[in-house]
Amino acid sequence: MLGNQWYAVLPMRSVGRRPVPIRRFGSDLVLWRGSDGAIRCAFDACPHRGAALSRGRIVDGALSCRYHGLSFADDGRCRHIPAHPSRDRSDLCLRMFPVREARGLVWVFNGHDSSLPELPWTDEIDAHLQSDGAPTLDITDRFDVSYLRVMENLTDYHHVPFVHRGLVPIKPEVTRFEAWREGQHVHTEGAMGGLEAETDIYGPCFAVLSFAGTARFAVCATPIDEGNTWLFARYSQCLVRFPGLTLLATWLLGQFDYRLLQKLQDAPVWRSQRLADPADIRRYTLLPADQGVRLYFEMHAELAS
Ligand code: FES
Ligand SMILES: [Fe+2]
Repeated sequence: MLGNQWYAVLPMRSVGRRPVPIRRFGSDLVLWRGSDGAIRCAFDACPHRGAALSRGRIVDGALSCRYHGLSFADDGRCRHIPAHPSRDRSDLCLRMFPVREARGLVWVFNGHDSSLPELPWTDEIDAHLQSDGAPTLDITDRFDVSYLRVMENLTDYHHVPFVHRGLVPIKPEVTRFEAWREGQHVHTEGAMGGLEAETDIYGPCFAVLSFAGTARFAVCATPIDEGNTWLFARYSQCLVRFPGLTLLATWLLGQFDYRLLQKLQDAPVWRSQRLADPADIRRYTLLPADQGVRLYFEMHAELAS
C-alpha cells in the first residue's frame, strides 16, 4: 500500500457524534468530529496505554479515552489527565492524519508531506461526472481482495463477454483500444461488439468510467489492508431523463453494475487470481488489450519507489 496518497475512507455522513473506528491502509484509525464540527483522523490507539480511542466519546469537543479519561484536542494534543490534572501533558499526543471532506467523502492522507497534493477527485472530474446535473447513486461495500485486483479490472474491457456472458452478450474481439499515461493519470478507451468504454485512473485508487457515453461512474478502491478493499462507487446516467424515472434508472444502473456484474461475477474471478505479492505482476503475460493494466502497474511501481 502506497504512502503519501489521499484515500477516500468513508462517507462524511457516517461520522456523527461518536468516534468511528475504521481500518484502512493496514492501520486501525479513529475518525471523529472536533470542536468545530470538522472531521479528524488519528491512529486508534491512546498514547497512554494503547486503548482504542474509538471506544471513547466526545466531551466538550475533545476526544476522551474510555480507559482513564485522558482527553485530546482537535490538534491531537492531550488536554486533560483526570488522575493528574497538573502533570505535564506534552508527551501525550495523538498521531494525526491530514483530512479533507469533499464529494460527500472523508479523505485521509496517509503520510506527512508538508505540501499536500490536490485530491484525485477534482472539480473538473466532478463536473464531467455530473455534467447534466443528473442525480447520482452511491454504493459502498468491501471486497476480500487487494485493491489492485479491482483497479486493474477497471481498464480491462475484454473480460466482459466472458465474465459477464449472460448479462452483457457482446462479441469478444476488441476492434479499437488505446491507452496512454501522463504522470499519475492513465487513460484507456476501446470498443468491442458495439460497446464503447473509457476509463481514467488518477493515482493508485481512484477511477472514472464511462460506457456508451451514457453511463458514468466514479470508483474509489481504498485498501483496508493487503487483502481487503473498501469500495465506493458513484453512478450517474443520461440515457433516461424523464421526471420521476431518472433516479430509478440510475438506481437500476448501480444495482446492475455493482450487485450483478462486480459483486456476483467479477469478484469471484478476482479472488481466483494467484499472486504472491498483489503488486508484482511479472507472472502476467499481457496482451495488447491489457495495455491499461501495464500502464497502471507501471505508475503504481513509480509511486511505490
Ligand atoms: S489508555 Fe487511554 S486513558 Fe489510559
Ligand atoms: Fe467486470
